[in-house]
Amino acid sequence: TERTLVLVKPDGVRRGLSGEILRRVEAKGYTLVAVELRTAGDDVLAAHYAEHEGKPFYAPLVDFMKSGAVLAVVAEGHRVIEGFRSLAGTTDPTTAAPGTIRGDLGRDWGLKVQQNLVHGSDSAESAAREIALWFPAL
Ligand code: GTP
Ligand code: MG
Repeated sequence: TERTLVLVKPDGVRRGLSGEILRRVEAKGYTLVAVELRTAGDDVLAAHYAEHEGKPFYAPLVDFMKSGAVLAVVAEGHRVIEGFRSLAGTTDPTTAAPGTIRGDLGRDWGLKVQQNLVHGSDSAESAAREIALWFPAL
């Protein structure tokens, strides 16, 4: 079996979509292993987004991720990493397919940052790294 890190980003928490997003993960058949609402600090976010350091959207992205609470989730199931990416939809919520979290619930709000409701680990290596970062006790 496999685990992935899901984050409901501050836009999702603020809009009251945490329950809807968890519902979709559970309805797909995955198991919730850990769920914790928290405010992310610079240290965790710098490590989490290390691959994007130096890109133009990096600073606005980190600021956005600190702008409110984040719901950190570990979900489990066979092929959950690609399964959740499929549930989430593509990065840009304007064009993400209807039926996906981003496609059904997200849009462009004309802000500097792409606010796209969720994060999901993109590989087994990322999942292991991100779960250790957000849930060191797991
Ligand atoms: P995550 O699941 O959050 O990792 O999204 P992703 O894998 O679909 O995107 P990626 O890892 O490439 O980028 C991480 C986050 O940075 C995205 O979810 C967006 O919020 C933001 N982002 C990525 N690319 C761009 C971009 O070209 N412009 C802007 N403004 N933001 C971006
Ligand atoms: Mg990513």
